[in-house]
Amino acid sequence: GTTLGTSAAESGRYFGAAVSTQYLSEAGYANTLAAEFNSVVAENAMKWDATEPNPGQFNFSGGDQLVSWAQARGMKVRGHTLVWHAQQPGWAQGLTGQNLRNAMLNHIAGVANHYEGKVFAWDVVNEAFEWDGSRRQSNLQQQLGNGWIEEAFRAADAADPNARLCYNDYGTDSINAKSTAIYNMVRDFKSRGVPIDCVGFQTHIAHNENLSSYQANLQRFADLGVDVEITELDVGQGTGQAATYGTVTNACMAVARCTGITVWGVTDKYSWRDDNPLLFDGNYQKKQAYHSVLAALNNG
Ligand code: G3I
Repeated sequence: GTTLGTSAAESGRYFGAAVSTQYLSEAGYANTLAAEFNSVVAENAMKWDATEPNPGQFNFSGGDQLVSWAQARGMKVRGHTLVWHAQQPGWAQGLTGQNLRNAMLNHIAGVANHYEGKVFAWDVVNEAFEWDGSRRQSNLQQQLGNGWIEEAFRAADAADPNARLCYNDYGTDSINAKSTAIYNMVRDFKSRGVPIDCVGFQTHIAHNENLSSYQANLQRFADLGVDVEITELDVGQGTGQAATYGTVTNACMAVARCTGITVWGVTDKYSWRDDNPLLFDGNYQKKQAYHSVLAALNNG
């Protein structure tokens, strides 16, 4: 293929980008996105603070705008994210006990029902573990206890039985304490029939990241019977940027259950990072990193 999306599609995969809807009116942004990618995810518009600003009052304007834009161009949409310790609306942050549980479950039902049939996958739970493999001491963990992740997946499955339901995290780019804790959770979920379909590897990394066990780590999750996805890829600038992008893409291509890759933005000028980590520069010119990814997609 000659674009990221068409090349990925040749092996049945997608290649997506995180999108801020405010930039869709910029021609360079919209044209690059439409020409090169075949999947999108909302960078912020489907998060809890955006979608439920007041209890039980949902606002889907930003997410709906992105879904329509993508559908009009034949692109797929990933859902990000139903439950996270960050970007919770103020009203939810102070809730305790059963009130927080009900708010979480009601939020999942409201959002996942609304987007049923429109998103192919959901990051049901985002970033619930620490580097050492312990649970992050978020309000969810402290108020609801260890079972909250399972409760969230069951609620998402009830609301949208056809979407692929993912656990998503960062710092999982090798076989390490954090990825192993998540691995153990997924193994437990699969053994007890908790509905989990996929694991998202955010992959926010440095240009000289040690990726010696990256592919083996993806493979061990796939061997549990879940799909794996690279969900938020970006690589800091430096001499190894292009090669590192290639390594990650090759790893996904080598794992049959790696269903696709999403980069966390279209252009360096709107990245959440300040170290030019994306595939297109501020003038929408293809970087060396772009060519490295394209070659890896076509070699696979
Ligand atoms: O919407 C408000 C706007 O009204 C206000 O004027 C402005 C002033 O600062 O802030 C705007 O909100 C910002 C929002 O992005 C939208 O631009 C928040 O301050 C800012 O914190 C928020 O940052 C996002 C961040 O998640 C929040 O944690 C980034 O754009 C987004 O790229 C980032 O994405 C996360 C993934 O969801 C999960 N994994 C890590 C990844 C990178 O941090």
